[in-house]
Amino acid sequence: MKTELKFSDAASVETELLAVFAIDHSISKEKDAKPELALLTSESALTAAAEAVLTSGEFKAAANETLLLHCPTGLAAKRLLLIGLGKAHKATVHDFRRAAGTAVRFAKPRVIRDVAIVIPESEILPPGPCVRAAVEGAILADFDPDTYRSDRKDQSVYHVSVVTRLPDTSSGKSVLEVACREGEIIGESQNFARSLVNEPGNILTPTEMGKRAAAMAKEVGLKCEVYSAEKLHELKMGAFWAVSQGSVEPPALIVLMYDPEGAPSEPVLGLVGKGITFDTGGISIKPSEGMEKMKYDMGGAGAMLGAMRAIALLKPRVKVISVVCSAENMPSGSAYKPGDVITAMSGKTIEVMNTDAEGRMVLADGLYYAQQLGATHLIDAATLTGACVVALGMVNAGVFSNNEDAYGHFVEALKASGDKFWRLPEEDDYKDQIKSQIADIMNTGGSRWGGATTAAMFLKEFVGETPWIHLDIAGVAWLEDQKPFLAKGPSGTPVRSLVEWVRTYESK
Ligand code: BES
Ligand code: ZN
Ligand code: ZN
Repeated sequence: MKTELKFSDAASVETELLAVFAIDHSISKEKDAKPELALLTSESALTAAAEAVLTSGEFKAAANETLLLHCPTGLAAKRLLLIGLGKAHKATVHDFRRAAGTAVRFAKPRVIRDVAIVIPESEILPPGPCVRAAVEGAILADFDPDTYRSDRKDQSVYHVSVVTRLPDTSSGKSVLEVACREGEIIGESQNFARSLVNEPGNILTPTEMGKRAAAMAKEVGLKCEVYSAEKLHELKMGAFWAVSQGSVEPPALIVLMYDPEGAPSEPVLGLVGKGITFDTGGISIKPSEGMEKMKYDMGGAGAMLGAMRAIALLKPRVKVISVVCSAENMPSGSAYKPGDVITAMSGKTIEVMNTDAEGRMVLADGLYYAQQLGATHLIDAATLTGACVVALGMVNAGVFSNNEDAYGHFVEALKASGDKFWRLPEEDDYKDQIKSQIADIMNTGGSRWGGATTAAMFLKEFVGETPWIHLDIAGVAWLEDQKPFLAKGPSGTPVRSLVEWVRTYESK
């Protein structure tokens, strides 16, 4: 998809599909209350073209509701698509990102190749963030996960223009141009993460993930090193190695470095990802029902690689390193077993209670290694626990932090990304649950209770005093149902939040 920012009035844009947005100004919560609809444009040609349908009552401007008009009078476009943004007092830029995506997913099955999105004229929806959101939403909406279908039809939208009137000042113009470019970079990077997460375990092995990371790094100018088993031994990464030892597929330790000119020596941000390319559970094997989904157990790693791609292209002035720990968790004669005692890279000993709690094992060494490489602040992302999905469902992901300042930066990042995270506790009162009789700690919390927190407590053992954020994305990395603006499948969450978190540390 090619995206373009067009400074023009919307009425004269020649396109196959012109998408314009509507809100409902009524504040009544009554079910039958009459909506008070308004198009978010001051162009009379657009309001005139939509007037009859807006007064007909057929369209209520509910979020992502669509209504199509062919051959609209007075417009150069072949079709006019009205898209709802919901109630005016609640509409946000994040709703607009979704609504822009809805335009593209509306076009795809109709094989409409060219779409123009009209940027709202509205005090609550500022043009800069809206341009960026429109571009991101369009690129994300174009993604479909049908890679290996022989009957795959190319339904992609080739060209999206984002239409807005020329601002009065040249600085106003350049703000919008930058927003458009940022939207392209971030949307494409999130799709890069999604394309990795979508790959089946037989294709995206740890070695293959290393190759794709290296290719991406070369393309965007990042330093990249990919190591395998020997390096894990050399570094004494016992916990990471333990998980990988049951598979014939060798592990991959992927290290990416972004070291821009002029960045201060600190902070150094460390992005650590869980990259289990397939999680059978190992000897503590999972039930077969739904096991095929465990190819997405590298969603945290995919998000880190996507975020690093975006960072390399956006070039914030802050140092970033990423450590991705990739392995396959398999049962076999050489697999690690419940009862085994493993020494992690930090020297801590771990009693293995359940080989299915493998993500925290690889992250233990990944988090420790990132600090050895100089990280002063850590963030990890992992499809870590089913317990987090039980707690928060598939809307919010879990966030944990040992540091209020780092957490504050993350909250700031969420405002720009629109991702939904809910903070869960990591207090030392939970520490007793991971005490072991034979070793320093055990790799589960002993009981089912508080499973997302006990996993976080385990990770906390390996971060010391370093400010750290842990993102448990088990419930959100894979969309179970399609949305009007996104295909079912890999979501690419939290690429946008990671990029924004990094940017909050940029020295100005
Ligand atoms: N990869 C799973 C967690 C998961 C569950 C991801 C559902 C996505 C959807 C993880 O490795 C795992 O199996 N965790 C166990 C931990 C338990 C053994 C303490 C779990 O959540 O059951
Ligand atoms: Zn597992
Ligand atoms: Zn797992």
